[in-house]
Amino acid sequence: NASLGKNAEETGHYLGASVRWDPLTENEKYESLLVEEFSSVTVENEMKMDAAHPAPEEYNFQKADEIVQAAEQNNMKVRGHPLVWGEALPEWVYETVVDEQSARKVLKDHVQTMAGHYRERVNEWDVVNEAWNDDGSYRETIWLEHIGPEYIPLAFEWAREAAPEAKLYYNDYGNEMTNEKTEAMFAALKRWKDEGVPIDGIGMQTHIDAADPRFSKEKMQKNLRRWGAEGFETAVTELDVKLQNLDASREERLEKQADIYADVTSACMEEPSCKGLTVWGVGDTESWVTEQEAASGEPLLFDSSWKAKPAYERIKRTF
Ligand code: XIL
Repeated sequence: NASLGKNAEETGHYLGASVRWDPLTENEKYESLLVEEFSSVTVENEMKMDAAHPAPEEYNFQKADEIVQAAEQNNMKVRGHPLVWGEALPEWVYETVVDEQSARKVLKDHVQTMAGHYRERVNEWDVVNEAWNDDGSYRETIWLEHIGPEYIPLAFEWAREAAPEAKLYYNDYGNEMTNEKTEAMFAALKRWKDEGVPIDGIGMQTHIDAADPRFSKEKMQKNLRRWGAEGFETAVTELDVKLQNLDASREERLEKQADIYADVTSACMEEPSCKGLTVWGVGDTESWVTEQEAASGEPLLFDSSWKAKPAYERIKRTF
């Protein structure tokens, strides 16, 4: 009985989806589709600092634990997301983190408690998320402000200590192809890796606007190859293809979406560095694009009534 996840696994890749606690516990169709069609799970929001670490001395693992448990019961891989990010921070961080010493203390405790709690259960962590701006400068976050760029290699070292078996990823958007941001990232991460910082992989979020002409399979492949040549593995970590800006009939939009999904999938399949893909949600109703931008974005593989879209058939054939 073929499914996307099974087809992917047969080629040595995984195909994952990001998962939210609410629909997982409320909607049987959501869980059955997830388990049937995917072989990996990324916890979409429940491991973010505001959700998992609501007060300085208080962690709340319950929802994330339940998602991880569902994945384990179905032999799915688990991606943890993210240990360090400038967003989704609880209010208390802005009161507690006031200088370098307090920043290091809070960040180390957070990274090691999260990574330690999920030791041997989370196979792969997005250790640092979105640390660069599009122009290649460091993104201004509370961590950069008080620690400087060193917060990045420190986070990887702390994560390795707490979860020695987990694959450790740097994750970002707009780094699917070469540009100023990718160049800055490449120079810094390569330098740190050469110095012995435990950075295993690079996650390309791959949030694509179908109306944006810049996407090219060849360029993406070239970029995946370049990271591979430096000893990094790669993954597509948050794939979705939004349609609301495309000036075409709905049918044509869905075809264009299928083309892009197939291109991203085969780019990953054809580059040995690329270990798998994760789509950012199961069905269009639960997508952040639907919530934050437009219902006509329809960015995922299943529609709002859980019906498979043309992109589903196309990537099934691609694997
Ligand atoms: C998004 C979630 O999908 C939303 O549900 C939430 O409200 C905001 O965050 N890059 C990331 C993800 O690394 O964590 C973001 O997820 C999407 C952009």
